[in-house]
Amino acid sequence: MAGVSVGMPVIGATRSLVPGAAGTTFPIERLGIPAIVFADGPAGLRIDPTRDFYSKTYYCTHFPIGISLSSTWDTESVYQIGKAIGEEVRDYGVDILLAPGNNLMRNPLCGRNFEYYSEDPLLSGYIAAAYINGVQSNGVGTSIKHFAFNNQETKRMGNDARMTQRTARELYLRPFEIAIHNSAPWTVMSSYNKINGTFTAESYELLTTILRNEWEYEGAVVTDWFGGKDRVANVNAGNDMIQPGLPSDTDIIMAAVEDGRIMPQTLDANVKRILQLIVKTPRFNGYVYNDEPDLSTHAEVARKVAAEGTVLLKNDDVLPLSHSTKNVAVYGVTSYDIIPGGSGSGTVNRPYTISLIEGLRNNGYNADKKLMEQYSAHLKQFRKEQEAAKTDWWRSEERAKELLFTIQQLSLDADNNDVAIITIGRISGEGVDRDSVEFYLNTNEVELINNVCTAFHMKKKKVVVLLNIGDVIETASWKNLPDAILVPWHCGQEGGNSMADVLSGHSTSSGCLPMTFPIDVADHYSSQNMVMNAPNITLGVGQKDEDQGIRNIDYTIYEEGIYVGYRYFDTFSKEVSYPFGYGLSYTTFEYKDVEINRADDKIYIDITITNSGFLPGKEVVQIFTKAPKSKLDKPSRELKAFAKTTELQPSEHQRLRLTINVMDLASFDQNEQAWVMDGGRYHFYISSATKGTQFTETLKIKKSKQAVNDVFKQR
Ligand code: BGC
Repeated sequence: MAGVSVGMPVIGATRSLVPGAAGTTFPIERLGIPAIVFADGPAGLRIDPTRDFYSKTYYCTHFPIGISLSSTWDTESVYQIGKAIGEEVRDYGVDILLAPGNNLMRNPLCGRNFEYYSEDPLLSGYIAAAYINGVQSNGVGTSIKHFAFNNQETKRMGNDARMTQRTARELYLRPFEIAIHNSAPWTVMSSYNKINGTFTAESYELLTTILRNEWEYEGAVVTDWFGGKDRVANVNAGNDMIQPGLPSDTDIIMAAVEDGRIMPQTLDANVKRILQLIVKTPRFNGYVYNDEPDLSTHAEVARKVAAEGTVLLKNDDVLPLSHSTKNVAVYGVTSYDIIPGGSGSGTVNRPYTISLIEGLRNNGYNADKKLMEQYSAHLKQFRKEQEAAKTDWWRSEERAKELLFTIQQLSLDADNNDVAIITIGRISGEGVDRDSVEFYLNTNEVELINNVCTAFHMKKKKVVVLLNIGDVIETASWKNLPDAILVPWHCGQEGGNSMADVLSGHSTSSGCLPMTFPIDVADHYSSQNMVMNAPNITLGVGQKDEDQGIRNIDYTIYEEGIYVGYRYFDTFSKEVSYPFGYGLSYTTFEYKDVEINRADDKIYIDITITNSGFLPGKEVVQIFTKAPKSKLDKPSRELKAFAKTTELQPSEHQRLRLTINVMDLASFDQNEQAWVMDGGRYHFYISSATKGTQFTETLKIKKSKQAVNDVFKQR
């Protein structure tokens, strides 16, 4: 079991190996078994950047966050990010990276959505697989987390996620199933919460029946840090390793083996899997790490992929900025204090953060000096006040209030500059869900956008809004004001550069939304069963595990079932602000020569995409399907494949092939206790992120079914 003694802090408890890592295994020197090191996390490796008595630094690259990676809809880019992170893991002497986070985005208010990928299980699953393959290409491991149903932070260590087996299998388990089958992560991390009354870390059905028996997963399962209650149940359910592990855990487990509550064969299987894991690691194999990862090459990868994941929501003839644009009026405190990532275990101790001002300068623009001075003084004052009121590490960081300007100043700014940029920022993090207040713009933000747009439009100058956010926010009420809206998300330490690269057109805009921007947060069906005003209950504090009384805190009913995200909005014709999969381009594309063929258990769709516009660009093709009429309720469309072109020059074309596993068209039928593919005619919508459905093809498919185990009985 892992080697942290009682009373020691978890984070940074592995001082003797890699300071700042999350944990280790317990070494048995007499047998030549070393301790191996686990460290967070999704947006880059998290270790301490400095060490006592050493002048050397150990910074890691802060890469774009999960939602930014999935917005690329490009598994190759995500692989490159994983590969670069894995090099840092290896070169800093870590063996297992505690990532990727692959929980489905059930609701926009989940505090950790920024670490996750999508409201769609297929997109989540393939993005996670690409990330894992990239990291593991370095001979180090990953820990796909948090398995499973960890879709809210409120009382995350005890919340009971209550849902039907269909909901569990079709939505929340699918991202893990796809990722595991397409990448083989070395470890899986069980989650803190419960599923239908049983802690996931104590659920044999989850960790053994499904993960090992149905999915044939052969790696090791580790608990989340201090997760679960009953160590004997943890072991019997299928966890191989308790993290961070206390000496008392060993005593409890040994006593249970003695008195027969844990079978020796179970313990043997745990030990075998841990040893199989250890022998694969760099540490066991005597890899001599150099503490010198190639940070400058990795910064370039971060910059390139962050631009690739930037989503253009609106563009009234302003982006990319014209060649004559030189002087830029930059507004919004976030422009001067950009947010590279979320808070909690997913943060990265990075060497620097490129500001938007620096990024603009690197792309040949001048930021307005007077505004720079005003914001600099404002932020200095804010930081002084903040110093006095330090908050807990897991709480969302406070942001400075927006500065407002007189109409006279704005009008002068409009005279002196060619264009205005306003950045709106939001940060969220581990341990706390977002309060719905955070979803809406506050009065200062609305006033700032209003006033800047009025002043600049009076002088026939354009305004661009950048959203430096980790999750969706309200856009419907103000999106008509600016001329362009760009979502760079939290895009890592190179943020200012990647934002400016897209503004200038040095990078083409090709990201698409992995999550719907609803008109109102309450529009999500899941919002009926989600805490809208995050209470002060973090990490389960203030609420005992055995308490089962308060809805959405102690337990959450997944009443919406499979109708999460676009599955709900589309099927029930609910208007949204920007739909799932949406993202504009600087150029246009033409779709032609579609062919659809079936060969055994695969369906192939081939299509030729031509850049029909005047600028280079990349296009994302999305295939949604609709099943024939069935006795089951089904969404009006579901994503079943996606692909992205390489960068196409004007009039260049590319033939893409998209593949669908036939059985992926099946739905889970609880009455038949099986994945059932209804016989009949299936529709395939070949869709463009910008222009919607381009072609509809159909295929007749025979009924088939695949029986699985009956699990997660609802009480
Ligand atoms: C988080 C995990 C993280 C672990 C180690 C837990 O609190 O939920 O995501 O990997 O801590 O830092």
